[in-house]
Amino acid sequence: MAQVPPRRRRAPVGSSGGAAPSAPASARFPGVAIYLAEPRMGRSRRAFLTRLARSKGFSVLDAYSPEVTHVVMEQTSAAEAAAWQERKAASAPAGWTRPVLLDVSWFTESMAVGQPVPMERRHHLEVAEPRKRAPSPARMLPYACQRPTPLTHHNASLSEALETLAEAAGFEGSEGRLLSFCRAASVLKALPSPVTTLSQLQGLPHFGNHSSRVVQEMLEHGACKEVERVRRSERYQTMKLFTQIFGVGVKTADQWYREGLRTLDDLREQPQKLTQQQKAGGGRLWRVRRPVSAGLQHHEDLAVPVQQEEAQALQRLVEAAVGQALPGATVTLTGGFRRGKLQGHDVDFLLTHPQEGREAGLLPRVMHHLQNQGLVLYHLHQHSHLGDSTYKAQQSHTMDCFERNFCIFRLPLPPEAAVGGLQRPCQTWKAVRVDLVVTPISQFPFALLGWTGSKHFERELRRFSRREKGLCLSSHSLFDLQQEKFLPAASEEDIFRHLGLKYLPPEQRNA
Ligand code: CTP
Ligand code: MN
Ligand code: MN
Repeated sequence: MAQVPPRRRRAPVGSSGGAAPSAPASARFPGVAIYLAEPRMGRSRRAFLTRLARSKGFSVLDAYSPEVTHVVMEQTSAAEAAAWQERKAASAPAGWTRPVLLDVSWFTESMAVGQPVPMERRHHLEVAEPRKRAPSPARMLPYACQRPTPLTHHNASLSEALETLAEAAGFEGSEGRLLSFCRAASVLKALPSPVTTLSQLQGLPHFGNHSSRVVQEMLEHGACKEVERVRRSERYQTMKLFTQIFGVGVKTADQWYREGLRTLDDLREQPQKLTQQQKAGGGRLWRVRRPVSAGLQHHEDLAVPVQQEEAQALQRLVEAAVGQALPGATVTLTGGFRRGKLQGHDVDFLLTHPQEGREAGLLPRVMHHLQNQGLVLYHLHQHSHLGDSTYKAQQSHTMDCFERNFCIFRLPLPPEAAVGGLQRPCQTWKAVRVDLVVTPISQFPFALLGWTGSKHFERELRRFSRREKGLCLSSHSLFDLQQEKFLPAASEEDIFRHLGLKYLPPEQRNA
């Protein structure tokens, strides 16, 4: 581990009051590190202001760096300042907190009183932290991938109402309505404070009549009739129940519904719909158990959300199996748990090896180790289509082309959990859904970004790439449609840079 250099002792306050030091002054005002942006200021005035500030004990940095907290500009409009910051941000390292952009008036007033004056609205050219800003709807950027969306936010009941309508639209195959409601809900999740009056929606992107009406009703009456009606409807409840079953999509659920099926018991009484299915493979007929019957068999457990500690326990089990199968291969937690969620419907892992090609054959060996320990209740293997590695071929698949296993694990429970709390007394294990995905290391950053989600964030990221940048983003690559070439990336940060987007850590992708 690198040794931490000893802290330099701070010069006594006031010692910098004499001759102007040439180096950045020791911070008399911690938390204030000024950078004077030159464009409109001119070199000699900049040098003068720098000397002046340092003589008063201010820290003024010569170069723009992550230490800078206050950028001061002269005769610069907010738009110019924002453009300047965008250019700087494009080459900035990941996770760099943007400094505040201030007019020179803040600087001169601070010099006059010999200390930083409070930053007022009139001083601001641009504000660094969007979330610390007073709600200012017009500033909300239109794509979810352009703005941070934390896990917990200020408008949960409103966003949940809109998401109910989105989900219901999805059950009816209305993709357009689903997207409209998802986008409006996602905007609410990104707001820095609760919406309390309808006027706060003005200027927000993606708020059409319908979504606005829902919010208005919620604000006025605490509930929305349409949402309540949907939630109570047999159609919605049944579709929700059926689509929650592992292996069941909207199409199947809808078909069952139209056949009059309503409950899990209805399904269990129709085993021909779920059980053994003949499937051709490799010239022979394999008997494949459809995921639905396994899903139904373990439905009681699978309907209970997976907890974070359980995800961690699973990670340790998978890591051990991977370590045995191929030393050096790695396991990365993705999906909702990587975004900081405390619960999930499954646990998602990405497997790779630092040497390209070594990941081939890894998954069957990992499964073998897991099965030998009795940890696997069910798994559905899907071969890689990576052979079709042209951009066109990958486009033709609706899902990505990685080799993967959709599994149900038998997760042993710690003794304390086994005794109480669960529906079945003395349960010593719990069925948990696990997705294992294998990627070659060259595609790892794309796979990681694609599998971290959220689903809406991914959708927006791909839409933004294509519409705003002419780039096609998938879990495998980033392709420049005009130049017909792939853009390389060694990290998620690289991909955000290619897209001209500010890097968002996984916890801020809960769109
Ligand atoms: N994903 C994907 N291809 C799939 C399935 C999922 O690219 N065939 C992506 C989704 O876009 C999602 C992420 O992988 O962003 C994780 O998917 P999922 O487990 O369904 O969602 P989570 O966000 O993890 O939510 P949950 O906590 O409910 O599991
Ligand atoms: Mn998941
Ligand atoms: Mn998943």
